Amino acid sequence: PLKAIIFDLDGVITDTAEYHFLAWKALGEELGIPFTREFNEELKGISRMESLEKILAFGGKQNKFTNQEKETLAARKNSHYRRLIEEITPNDILPGIREFITAIKQNGIKIGLASVSKNAFTVINRLGLVSEFDTIVDAATIQNGKPDPEIFLRAAEQLGINPGTCIGIEDAEAGVAAIKAAGMFAVGIGDENRLAQADLIYHSTTELRFDEILNAFVAKSN
Ligand code: G6P
Ligand code: MG
Repeated sequence: PLKAIIFDLDGVITDTAEYHFLAWKALGEELGIPFTREFNEELKGISRMESLEKILAFGGKQNKFTNQEKETLAARKNSHYRRLIEEITPNDILPGIREFITAIKQNGIKIGLASVSKNAFTVINRLGLVSEFDTIVDAATIQNGKPDPEIFLRAAEQLGINPGTCIGIEDAEAGVAAIKAAGMFAVGIGDENRLAQADLIYHSTTELRFDEILNAFVAKSN
């Protein structure tokens, strides 16, 4: 039986995926690395340092910086990102998410957060959603980022439940891969080709329906 729904944050609960994009794009421009939305898809769900490495490799500059310089570049992106998230209010919760959370709770299902962002708590707090979560994984304690299943497995462990009783929700290809590797049912939000590995795909959060997702989960477990 279904026991928990575990959410990714950026691009699922709120549109901070756009802020990560803008902050990386600004850094890319400073470094002379052209930045497209297409390339940005590969950064979704990927940790800060790994994202920087991918961007430098994309621009053919992976060997141009020392580790210390890379730390400085990542910090510069983060300060830009933190300026952007200062403006977040509860109005920035994506459409359909609040209703979906209400339905999950009414059905006695637990809610977890599995974001590798070190800014996740700040964002959830600004959205006014902290108390909605039964568990929030601290990204600082995670060794392996998505697509490794570690963060989703940790959320299930913190809830004291079996991963097979969980549904994960993600907008990133690496995130859907992490959910599947954790042995969970995956709901993807976004493009069906990119998120083809998901068990169920919606184009937007407005389409999330608890009953429909539960039915698909039950059908898959039988
Ligand atoms: C999430 C986002 C990524 C971001 C990562 C790290 O996975 O999807 O775009 O790079 O978190 O975020 P942070 O706030 O720690 O830099
Ligand atoms: Mg995401």
